[in-house]
Amino acid sequence: MEKKNHIVILTGAGISQESGIKTFRDSNGLWENHKIEDVASPLGFAKNPKLVLDFYNLRREQLMSDEVSPNKAHTALAALEKEYDGKVTIITQNIDDLHERAGSTNVLHMHGELLKMRCINCNNTFDVKDKFDQKNRCPGCKKIGLLRPDIVWFGETPYFLDEIESILNDCDLFISIGTSGNVYPAAGFVQLVKAIGKAQAIEVNIEGTEISNHFDQHMIGNAGEKVSELVNYILKGV
Ligand code: APR
Repeated sequence: MEKKNHIVILTGAGISQESGIKTFRDSNGLWENHKIEDVASPLGFAKNPKLVLDFYNLRREQLMSDEVSPNKAHTALAALEKEYDGKVTIITQNIDDLHERAGSTNVLHMHGELLKMRCINCNNTFDVKDKFDQKNRCPGCKKIGLLRPDIVWFGETPYFLDEIESILNDCDLFISIGTSGNVYPAAGFVQLVKAIGKAQAIEVNIEGTEISNHFDQHMIGNAGEKVSELVNYILKGV
C-alpha cells in the first residue's frame, strides 16, 4: 500500500496573536508585569504558589472570554486536516485550545495546556475551566493543595518528545508558524527534519527568525492571511 504523505505543523504564540493572545517576546521578558521565571518555573511555583495559580487563573479567564476565538489560521489548519488526502499533525507550543476549537483533532501540546491541571501527588490530569486555588482537592487522590497547572515550565521537559521524534522522521512537509525559534527543543525540529532529508520546510512569520536559514521557503506576513493561502495551495495540489 502506498504511504500517504504526512504534513507536520509546528505552531507558536504568533498563530494566536490575531486571536487576542499576546506573544511572549512582545512583552520584553515580562508577562502581565511579572518576570516570566516567577510565573513559569518550578522555582517560582515553590516560592509563591498563590501568585502562579492566580496568574494562570487570569490567563484561563481570558482564554474563555468572548474576546478570544480561533482565527483564520487555526480554521485553515483544521480544514487541511479534514480535506487533505494524507496525514496532518500539529505540534503546538501554545497552551491555548484554539486549534481544537477550530476543529483540529490531531494536536500535540508539547508545553501542556491551560485548561488542564495536574496533581503533583498522583500525577493525574484533570480538565479545568474555572479558577483553582491552593484549597482545591485533587479529584483523583483527594489530597488538598497539590494541583498545579499542567504546563511545561522553564527547566521542565516538554511532553511527547519520543512521539514527536518519530513524527518528524515520518514527515514529508514541515511547516512552522508564528514561532521565534528561541526555545529548544522546538527550535531544533527544522534542523532535524532537514537532516533526515526528505521534507521541504516552510516558515510562516511576520519577520525573519533565528532559525529562518534552515527553511526552504518563507511566507512573510500575518498567520491568518498566509496560512489560509498556504492551505489553499496544498489542497489544490500546487
Ligand atoms: N503572524 C505570524 N507570526 C507572528 C504574528 C502573526 N500575527 N505575530 C507574531 N508573530 C511571530 C513573531 O515574529 C515571533 O517570531 O511569532 C513569534 C512569537 O514568538 P514567541 O513570543 O517567542 O513565541 P514562541 O516561539 O511560541 O515561544 C516559544 O517560549 O516562552 C516560551 O513556552 C513558551 O511556548 C513558548 C515558547
